Amino acid sequence: MKKKIVLALCVLLCSAGILSACSDGGSSAGQNSVTISDEDIEEVTGGVVTYDNFSIIYSNSFENGDVSKFSARSADDPTSLAVTEEIASAGKKSLCASGRKEGQSGPVLKLDGICETNKSYSISFAVMQKDRTAVRVGLEYKDQSGAVQTKELFTTTEGGRWHKVTLLEFSIPSDSKDAVIWFEGGTSDMYIDNVVIVGVAPADIEYDIASLSEVFKDDFKVGTALTPSDLKSKNTVALTEKHFSASITVGNELKPDYVLDKGASEEYYKQTGDDEHPQVSFSSAKSVLDYARAKKIPVRVHTLVWHSQTPVWFFKEGYDPNGNWVTPEKMNARMENYIKAYFEKLTELYPDIDFYACDVVNEAWMEDGRPRKAGDNKVKEGTSAWVQVYGDNSFIEKAFTYARKYAPEGCKLYYNDYNEYMDGKLKAIINMAKDFKEKGIIDGIGMQSHLDARTGYDAYPTVKMYNNALDKYAELGLDIQITELDATVPKNSGDKYFKTQAEYYKGIIKAIYDHKDSVSALIFWGLSDDKSWRSTQQPLLFDRKSHAKPAFYSVIEDYVK
Ligand code: GLA
Repeated sequence: MKKKIVLALCVLLCSAGILSACSDGGSSAGQNSVTISDEDIEEVTGGVVTYDNFSIIYSNSFENGDVSKFSARSADDPTSLAVTEEIASAGKKSLCASGRKEGQSGPVLKLDGICETNKSYSISFAVMQKDRTAVRVGLEYKDQSGAVQTKELFTTTEGGRWHKVTLLEFSIPSDSKDAVIWFEGGTSDMYIDNVVIVGVAPADIEYDIASLSEVFKDDFKVGTALTPSDLKSKNTVALTEKHFSASITVGNELKPDYVLDKGASEEYYKQTGDDEHPQVSFSSAKSVLDYARAKKIPVRVHTLVWHSQTPVWFFKEGYDPNGNWVTPEKMNARMENYIKAYFEKLTELYPDIDFYACDVVNEAWMEDGRPRKAGDNKVKEGTSAWVQVYGDNSFIEKAFTYARKYAPEGCKLYYNDYNEYMDGKLKAIINMAKDFKEKGIIDGIGMQSHLDARTGYDAYPTVKMYNNALDKYAELGLDIQITELDATVPKNSGDKYFKTQAEYYKGIIKAIYDHKDSVSALIFWGLSDDKSWRSTQQPLLFDRKSHAKPAFYSVIEDYVK
């Protein structure tokens, strides 16, 4: 079985239920009278990242009474430490630090003999302060000159209940000594339990090259698509943080197939007789959204309405996949309620994420400028259940109208498509966008930009064609986002065409940069070739070792300061 750890970098605000449990105790900060029960445990974590490789190097649940690695913060700190059975986060015992004074007073975990300098670790623990004061946790060490250096790693939302904090990352710089993890804040008794230190393999990426999001920070956001499985790779996470920290698109899990909750919708229908309120769930997207929140990375919402990756029951009477198609009127109601529930729940779960953009409708126009053919996409690829229900593309305007009504403030609305440079499709998008712009329901065009550098001379689209599309969309006076950029080389061609690919990318990026007044985001569809949806055609800027390819350098060379 694969070993897994969960990395969490912050703890969510406590739920209303937990808050009232705390206040039921009738205590206020500074008092020691809160009755602490197991129900008070706060287990919710944010910034969840799972890696496949790790090693546990220290673990203590205090069940065997061992406190040898703990001490008071300093010689004049009166904190006394003892294992107690009074309360435990798990098992029967925990470490209790009592007799503390104001300021930097409290227990420390001495890292000598546990951690080496210059390596990456993470620490998990449960901590609770008896009164309602927050607990602060940090790393401290003496540097080369003997000066004490302190770095705060974490602060609990409040005291009076357990906080299970998972995997705070830290490393001790070389030539430093006497490193400790300290716990401070308030003066009441503090409890610590289940301390685990894990050694994390360092990411193997090039830290000494320019950062893409930095290079273009004055021009547009540079971001990437991320899936929950990407978060299991230390390199992928490190690449995201170095190069793509301005925007994340959740690779699949914000699409209708993942968000529309069949069981809950059926249940709601059964209870109420109402099949116009489809229910939504964001559990599939949780790890990526938790990560975006922890790292404060803005998110593009992709996508509300699409013919693909959408369950057919959504379009059927009584949500029965074998039932009749619903009427356009019923579909209007379903779509409105779905879009309303989508935004309401998303912003309720993640009030602090900047959902700055949303692909309201994806891929509704064909290359010849006509709507898709009617049908169930899962039966015949390329057909659209939306067109089946509405008879034409009139659902697009409905979708934008509802999205405008319910999207959170600051969330701009895009029509997103591929082959968006092909004549018929381009014209159809432009006609639609002009109309929607007048109606005030659209903010921009998403150019997916799944391009093919091929062997160079046969690249498609040509840079000229791509540039022309940018000109046309920019003329609309709407915003443009490059939403899914990648550019392939021939299958399994090794690095033979990497230089050609670099040239092609350079031209495409110049075209985008030349329109920077209209372009607000440049999102790559993935990080490294091995993780791409077109991996055999190596379309990205980083290779399977997460190292920069010639295309990376050609993309930045004219813009790096
Ligand atoms: C389209 C979609 C994306 C993704 C890619 C393939 O471009 O918009 O969500 O599915 O195809 O990975």
